[in-house]
Amino acid sequence: MRRLMPGRRALSADETPQTADPRALPGHVAIIMDGNGRWATGRGLPRIAGHKRGINSVRKITRHARLRGVKYLTLFAFSTENWLRPKEEVHGLFDLFRYYMRRECRTLAREGVRIRFIGDASEMPQDIQAMMVEAEAMTSAGDTMTLIVALNYGSRAEIVTATQRLAVKVAAGALSAEAIDDAAIAAEMNTADFPDPDLIIRTSGEQRLSNFLLWQAAYSEFLFVDSHWPDFDELSFDECLDRYCQRDRRFGGLRKSG
Ligand code: IPE
Ligand code: IPE
Ligand code: MG
Repeated sequence: MRRLMPGRRALSADETPQTADPRALPGHVAIIMDGNGRWATGRGLPRIAGHKRGINSVRKITRHARLRGVKYLTLFAFSTENWLRPKEEVHGLFDLFRYYMRRECRTLAREGVRIRFIGDASEMPQDIQAMMVEAEAMTSAGDTMTLIVALNYGSRAEIVTATQRLAVKVAAGALSAEAIDDAAIAAEMNTADFPDPDLIIRTSGEQRLSNFLLWQAAYSEFLFVDSHWPDFDELSFDECLDRYCQRDRRFGGLRKSG
Protein backbone atom coordinates (compact mmCIF):
# COMPACT_ATOMS: atom_id res chain seq x y z
CA MET A 1 0.00 0.00 0.00
CA ARG A 2 1.22 3.45 -0.85
CA ARG A 3 2.11 5.52 2.19
CA LEU A 4 1.57 9.16 1.50
CA MET A 5 3.78 11.75 3.06
CA PRO A 6 2.12 14.25 5.35
CA GLY A 7 0.89 17.46 3.69
CA ARG A 8 3.22 19.22 1.33
CA ARG A 9 3.02 22.73 2.67
CA ALA A 10 6.30 24.25 3.88
CA LEU A 11 6.83 23.76 7.61
CA SER A 12 7.17 26.77 9.85
CA ALA A 13 10.19 27.21 12.10
CA ASP A 14 8.40 26.32 15.32
CA GLU A 15 6.91 23.08 14.05
CA THR A 16 8.28 19.86 15.37
CA PRO A 17 9.77 17.26 13.01
CA GLN A 18 7.23 15.18 11.09
CA THR A 19 7.68 11.60 12.07
CA ALA A 20 4.14 10.39 11.39
CA ASP A 21 5.32 7.24 9.67
CA PRO A 22 9.03 6.89 10.40
CA ARG A 23 9.17 3.47 8.71
CA ALA A 24 8.38 5.07 5.38
CA LEU A 25 10.99 7.81 5.63
CA PRO A 26 14.49 7.46 4.31
CA GLY A 27 16.78 7.76 7.35
CA HIS A 28 19.66 8.88 5.13
CA VAL A 29 19.20 11.02 2.03
CA ALA A 30 22.23 11.85 -0.12
CA ILE A 31 22.08 14.52 -2.81
CA ILE A 32 24.27 15.15 -5.85
CA MET A 33 23.65 18.87 -6.13
CA ASP A 34 24.07 19.35 -9.87
CA GLY A 35 23.13 21.98 -12.45
CA ASN A 36 24.30 25.22 -10.83
CA GLY A 37 26.32 26.16 -13.91
CA ARG A 38 23.47 25.49 -16.35
CA TRP A 39 21.02 27.35 -14.12
CA ALA A 40 23.25 30.42 -14.43
CA THR A 41 24.24 30.22 -18.09
CA GLY A 42 20.59 29.67 -19.04
CA ARG A 43 19.96 33.12 -17.56
CA GLY A 44 22.96 34.75 -19.14
CA LEU A 45 24.78 34.84 -15.79
CA PRO A 46 28.30 33.67 -14.89
CA ARG A 47 28.47 30.10 -13.54
CA ILE A 48 29.45 31.32 -10.08
CA ALA A 49 26.04 33.02 -9.79
CA GLY A 50 24.50 29.55 -10.00
CA HIS A 51 26.77 28.25 -7.24
CA LYS A 52 25.77 31.23 -5.11
CA ARG A 53 22.06 30.51 -5.64
CA GLY A 54 22.80 26.86 -4.85
CA ILE A 55 23.65 27.88 -1.28
CA ASN A 56 20.03 28.99 -0.76
CA SER A 57 18.92 25.48 -1.71
CA VAL A 58 21.46 24.00 0.71
CA ARG A 59 19.97 26.08 3.52
CA LYS A 60 16.37 25.32 2.60
CA ILE A 61 16.86 21.60 2.10
CA THR A 62 18.97 21.15 5.24
CA ARG A 63 16.28 22.76 7.34
CA HIS A 64 13.43 20.98 5.61
CA ALA A 65 15.06 17.54 5.77
CA ARG A 66 15.52 18.00 9.51
CA LEU A 67 11.90 19.05 9.96
CA ARG A 68 10.81 16.02 7.95
CA GLY A 69 12.67 13.77 10.38
CA VAL A 70 15.57 12.75 8.11
CA LYS A 71 18.47 11.71 10.36
CA TYR A 72 21.38 11.92 7.89
CA LEU A 73 21.65 14.29 4.95
CA THR A 74 24.73 14.00 2.73
CA LEU A 75 25.45 16.78 0.23
CA PHE A 76 28.01 16.35 -2.57
CA ALA A 77 29.68 19.76 -2.64
CA PHE A 78 33.01 19.23 -4.45
CA SER A 79 34.37 16.10 -6.10
CA THR A 80 37.96 14.98 -6.52
CA GLU A 81 37.38 15.53 -10.26
CA ASN A 82 36.12 19.10 -9.84
CA TRP A 83 39.78 20.28 -9.66
CA LEU A 84 39.66 19.91 -13.45
CA ARG A 85 37.56 23.08 -13.65
CA PRO A 86 39.10 26.50 -14.31
CA LYS A 87 41.01 27.89 -11.32
CA GLU A 88 38.65 30.86 -11.00
CA GLU A 89 35.64 28.56 -10.60
CA VAL A 90 37.40 26.38 -8.02
CA HIS A 91 38.47 29.47 -6.06
CA GLY A 92 34.97 30.91 -6.38
CA LEU A 93 33.50 27.68 -4.98
CA PHE A 94 35.92 27.76 -2.05
CA ASP A 95 35.03 31.40 -1.33
CA LEU A 96 31.35 30.47 -1.27
CA PHE A 97 32.13 27.60 1.05
CA ARG A 98 33.88 30.03 3.43
CA TYR A 99 30.87 32.36 3.25
CA TYR A 100 28.47 29.49 3.98
CA MET A 101 30.51 28.20 6.92
CA ARG A 102 30.85 31.63 8.50
CA ARG A 103 27.12 32.26 8.26
CA GLU A 104 25.65 28.82 8.94
CA CYS A 105 27.64 27.09 11.68
CA ARG A 106 25.97 28.86 14.57
CA THR A 107 22.52 28.21 13.09
CA LEU A 108 23.30 24.53 12.61
CA ALA A 109 24.54 24.27 16.19
CA ARG A 110 21.40 26.00 17.47
CA GLU A 111 19.16 23.65 15.51
CA GLY A 112 21.00 20.60 16.83
CA VAL A 113 22.49 19.68 13.46
CA ARG A 114 25.85 17.93 13.69
CA ILE A 115 28.11 18.64 10.71
CA ARG A 116 30.65 16.10 9.47
CA PHE A 117 32.88 16.07 6.40
CA ILE A 118 33.89 13.25 4.10
CA GLY A 119 36.62 13.47 1.47
CA ASP A 120 40.29 14.34 1.52
CA ALA A 121 40.52 17.51 3.62
CA SER A 122 44.32 17.55 3.39
CA GLU A 123 44.17 18.95 -0.16
CA MET A 124 41.91 21.83 0.82
CA PRO A 125 43.28 25.32 1.65
CA GLN A 126 44.55 25.55 5.24
CA ASP A 127 41.96 28.06 6.42
CA ILE A 128 39.14 25.87 5.11
CA GLN A 129 40.62 22.85 6.90
CA ALA A 130 40.58 24.89 10.11
CA MET A 131 36.94 25.89 9.50
CA MET A 132 36.00 22.24 8.96
CA VAL A 133 37.61 21.18 12.25
CA GLU A 134 35.97 24.06 14.09
CA ALA A 135 32.54 23.37 12.59
CA GLU A 136 32.68 19.69 13.53
CA ALA A 137 33.67 20.62 17.08
CA MET A 138 31.09 23.40 17.40
CA THR A 139 28.21 21.13 16.30
CA SER A 140 29.39 17.83 17.79
CA ALA A 141 26.57 17.70 20.37
CA GLY A 142 23.85 18.03 17.72
CA ASP A 143 21.39 15.17 17.73
CA THR A 144 18.50 16.21 15.47
CA MET A 145 20.24 15.48 12.17
CA THR A 146 23.75 14.82 10.86
CA LEU A 147 24.70 16.93 7.84
CA ILE A 148 27.51 15.20 5.97
CA VAL A 149 29.29 17.43 3.49
CA ALA A 150 31.29 15.63 0.81
CA LEU A 151 34.15 17.99 0.03
CA ASN A 152 37.02 16.90 -2.21
CA TYR A 153 35.30 13.53 -2.08
CA GLY A 154 35.75 10.74 -4.60
CA SER A 155 34.57 7.24 -3.97
CA ARG A 156 37.39 5.52 -5.86
CA ALA A 157 40.01 7.44 -3.86
CA GLU A 158 38.14 6.45 -0.70
CA ILE A 159 38.16 2.78 -1.72
CA VAL A 160 41.87 2.94 -2.65
CA THR A 161 42.75 4.42 0.75
CA ALA A 162 40.61 1.86 2.59
CA THR A 163 42.33 -0.95 0.67
CA GLN A 164 45.77 0.43 1.49
CA ARG A 165 44.90 0.64 5.19
CA LEU A 166 43.70 -2.96 5.23
CA ALA A 167 46.83 -4.09 3.36
CA VAL A 168 49.03 -2.36 5.95
CA LYS A 169 47.19 -4.19 8.75
CA VAL A 170 47.55 -7.53 6.98
CA ALA A 171 51.27 -6.91 6.31
CA ALA A 172 51.78 -6.07 9.99
CA GLY A 173 50.04 -9.29 11.03
CA ALA A 174 47.26 -7.36 12.79
CA LEU A 175 44.58 -8.70 10.44
CA SER A 176 44.23 -11.91 8.44
CA ALA A 177 43.17 -11.71 4.78
CA GLU A 178 40.22 -14.00 5.59
CA ALA A 179 38.97 -11.54 8.21
CA ILE A 180 38.37 -8.88 5.54
CA ASP A 181 34.61 -8.79 5.13
CA ASP A 182 31.95 -6.16 4.30
CA ALA A 183 32.11 -4.72 7.79
CA ALA A 184 35.92 -4.51 7.79
CA ILE A 185 35.85 -2.57 4.51
CA ALA A 186 32.98 -0.31 5.59
CA ALA A 187 34.92 0.52 8.77
CA GLU A 188 37.78 1.94 6.69
CA MET A 189 35.53 4.20 4.61
CA ASN A 190 35.03 7.92 5.29
CA THR A 191 31.44 6.99 6.06
CA ALA A 192 32.29 4.45 8.80
CA ASP A 193 30.17 6.33 11.34
CA PHE A 194 27.06 6.60 9.15
CA PRO A 195 24.43 4.24 7.75
CA ASP A 196 24.33 3.70 3.97
CA PRO A 197 22.11 6.16 2.08
CA ASP A 198 18.53 4.97 1.64
CA LEU A 199 17.88 7.49 -1.11
CA ILE A 200 20.24 9.21 -3.54
CA ILE A 201 18.84 12.20 -5.42
CA ARG A 202 20.59 13.84 -8.36
CA THR A 203 19.32 17.11 -9.77
CA SER A 204 19.71 18.58 -13.29
CA GLY A 205 18.66 15.52 -15.30
CA GLU A 206 22.03 13.75 -15.35
CA GLN A 207 21.76 10.07 -14.55
CA ARG A 208 25.11 9.03 -13.17
CA LEU A 209 26.91 8.76 -9.84
CA SER A 210 30.04 10.72 -10.81
CA ASN A 211 32.19 8.84 -8.30
CA PHE A 212 29.80 9.37 -5.35
CA LEU A 213 29.33 6.72 -2.62
CA LEU A 214 29.97 3.74 -4.93
CA TRP A 215 30.35 1.24 -2.11
CA GLN A 216 27.63 2.73 0.09
CA ALA A 217 25.01 2.89 -2.72
CA ALA A 218 24.75 -0.89 -3.12
CA TYR A 219 21.07 -0.88 -2.12
CA SER A 220 20.16 2.81 -2.31
CA GLU A 221 17.11 3.96 -4.19
CA PHE A 222 17.91 6.50 -6.94
CA LEU A 223 15.89 9.49 -8.02
CA PHE A 224 16.95 11.69 -10.92
CA VAL A 225 15.09 14.97 -11.10
CA ASP A 226 15.17 17.51 -13.92
CA SER A 227 15.37 20.69 -11.80
CA HIS A 228 18.73 22.34 -11.48
CA TRP A 229 19.96 22.52 -7.90
CA PRO A 230 19.14 26.26 -7.40
CA ASP A 231 15.49 25.47 -8.32
CA PHE A 232 15.25 22.44 -6.04
CA ASP A 233 13.05 23.43 -3.09
CA GLU A 234 11.02 22.02 -0.20
CA LEU A 235 8.27 20.86 -2.55
CA SER A 236 10.78 19.07 -4.78
CA PHE A 237 12.20 17.35 -1.71
CA ASP A 238 8.75 16.24 -0.55
CA GLU A 239 8.02 14.89 -4.03
CA CYS A 240 11.20 12.84 -3.77
CA LEU A 241 10.10 11.50 -0.37
CA ASP A 242 6.73 10.55 -1.88
CA ARG A 243 8.38 8.72 -4.76
CA TYR A 244 10.74 6.97 -2.36
CA CYS A 245 7.78 5.79 -0.28
CA GLN A 246 6.36 4.05 -3.32
CA ARG A 247 9.48 1.98 -3.88
CA ASP A 248 9.60 -1.64 -2.80
CA ARG A 249 13.04 -2.22 -1.32
CA ARG A 250 13.75 -5.92 -1.42
CA PHE A 251 17.51 -6.18 -0.76
CA GLY A 252 17.59 -9.37 -2.84
CA GLY A 253 14.69 -10.95 -0.95
CA LEU A 254 11.03 -11.12 -1.90
CA ARG A 255 8.27 -8.51 -1.85
CA LYS A 256 6.90 -7.76 1.59
CA SER A 257 3.31 -7.94 0.31
CA GLY A 258 1.28 -8.70 -2.82
C1 IPE B 1 27.09 21.40 -9.27
O1 IPE B 1 26.78 22.21 -10.35
C2 IPE B 1 28.08 22.02 -8.32
C3 IPE B 1 29.43 21.44 -8.36
C4 IPE B 1 29.80 20.42 -9.08
C5 IPE B 1 30.43 22.07 -7.52
P1 IPE B 1 27.68 22.22 -11.65
O2 IPE B 1 28.74 23.27 -11.50
O3 IPE B 1 28.21 20.87 -11.97
O4 IPE B 1 26.64 22.69 -12.75
P2 IPE B 1 26.53 22.15 -14.24
O5 IPE B 1 26.40 20.66 -14.17
O6 IPE B 1 27.78 22.57 -14.94
O7 IPE B 1 25.31 22.81 -14.77
C1 IPE C 1 29.12 15.88 -9.41
O1 IPE C 1 28.75 16.80 -10.37
C2 IPE C 1 29.87 16.55 -8.29
C3 IPE C 1 29.10 17.43 -7.44
C4 IPE C 1 27.81 17.64 -7.49
C5 IPE C 1 29.85 18.09 -6.41
P1 IPE C 1 29.64 17.10 -11.66
O2 IPE C 1 28.93 18.16 -12.41
O3 IPE C 1 31.03 17.36 -11.27
O4 IPE C 1 29.58 15.71 -12.43
P2 IPE C 1 29.81 15.36 -13.97
O5 IPE C 1 31.12 15.97 -14.37
O6 IPE C 1 28.67 15.97 -14.74
O7 IPE C 1 29.79 13.89 -14.05
MG1 MG D 1 27.53 19.35 -13.10
